[in-house]
Amino acid sequence: MPAARHDTPLAALLADRIRRRGPVTFAEYMRECLYHPLHGYYSRAESRRFADYYTSVDVHPVFGRLLARQFAEMWECLEKPSPFLLVEAGAGVGRLAEHIMAWTETRRPDFHSSLRYVAVERSNARRKQLCDRLAKQIAAGSCESASEIPARIPAGCLFWNELLDAFPVHRVVMQAGAMSEVYVNLRDEAFAEELLPLSTCAITEYFAAQGIALVEGQSAEAGLEVCDWIREVGRRLERGFVLTIDYGHEASELYNELHMRGTLLVYDNHCAGEDFYAAPGEQDLTAHVNFTAIEQWGRRSGLERVGNVSQAEFLMALGKGNDFADLYEAGQSETERLRARLLLKTLIFPEGMGERFRVLIQQKGVSRTGLTGLAGI
Ligand SMILES: C[S@@+](CC[C@H](N)C(=O)[O-])C[C@H]1O[C@@H](n2cnc3c(N)ncnc32)[C@H](O)[C@@H]1O
Repeated sequence: MPAARHDTPLAALLADRIRRRGPVTFAEYMRECLYHPLHGYYSRAESRRFADYYTSVDVHPVFGRLLARQFAEMWECLEKPSPFLLVEAGAGVGRLAEHIMAWTETRRPDFHSSLRYVAVERSNARRKQLCDRLAKQIAAGSCESASEIPARIPAGCLFWNELLDAFPVHRVVMQAGAMSEVYVNLRDEAFAEELLPLSTCAITEYFAAQGIALVEGQSAEAGLEVCDWIREVGRRLERGFVLTIDYGHEASELYNELHMRGTLLVYDNHCAGEDFYAAPGEQDLTAHVNFTAIEQWGRRSGLERVGNVSQAEFLMALGKGNDFADLYEAGQSETERLRARLLLKTLIFPEGMGERFRVLIQQKGVSRTGLTGLAGI
């Protein structure tokens, strides 16, 4: 079991709580590490971002521009409703929103005039940064910021990039034919893992519903919050699409013999590690997304799978019809254009983000769904 430093403000709070009230589930520990209102990793203003991680959004605006093409097509599939709510959850500081709206404003003014972009970010500090960045669009009425997804989405699309991998997970271990849950306790004043009975029968249901039987000695994560999230999204969406971009697998692969220890990782300074207790609140914690669970729990509130492709297939399909015109700015030199082409490769090459990331699209109440991004399937 990993030893731990207690030298972050959050570590001291968590240790105090465990001393007073007993061990917490790993899911609870992870929730505090990422989202504690004051000391959570994602609760602070985004200053360390590039120190720990970057996402497709940061590689090049072409990522947002190609997504915008897909959203414009979804709007057409829905017969051009106005407003069309485009709800981005986990919008961070609003970079992707900025790229998408800049493209729709200049390239598809017809779509832009119906577009209502809702940038949803739970961190107050990041939401403030987002509002500063998108001040012009907010003043113009084409965008709003929120801490939660709208209660009702009559027509539109909800989407997220690298959101669901940052949802807290329960961790279990199969031992002597039974599942136990990983709790976080204190031993000699350091955080220590302890195996205890499952905190909720929802964990047993989670694996059973997907036909997953863990083998002896296997550790795994159960992403119950993702299940609750997608089911709630399906309830709130009346007509439209849900688009998830993240790294992960179908359940049959996520829980196979190649993943005997699970997929949870801690990121610090671009280094992945397994010491989840080294610096609570100051390290990113993330687990691979289970696409089977998203589909199954989505179906419980009416979301049907349209397709699931790699990010490479998705971006290639959307870009090839226009020779990736969205890569370039007017008046760029040949060197700048070459640099843009190299950055595109990061997004689509298998060894970059192209094959590791997948795009799942679900729909509700849509009769016509020939989406270009899924044309490869
Ligand atoms: C890994 S970051 C990704 C940010 C952005 N989507 C990108 O691609 O650069 C995850 C973001 O989701 C936010 N977040 C986590 N849970 C959320 C929730 N339930 N609703 C809205 N935002 C959430 C976090 O605060 C954080 O800013």
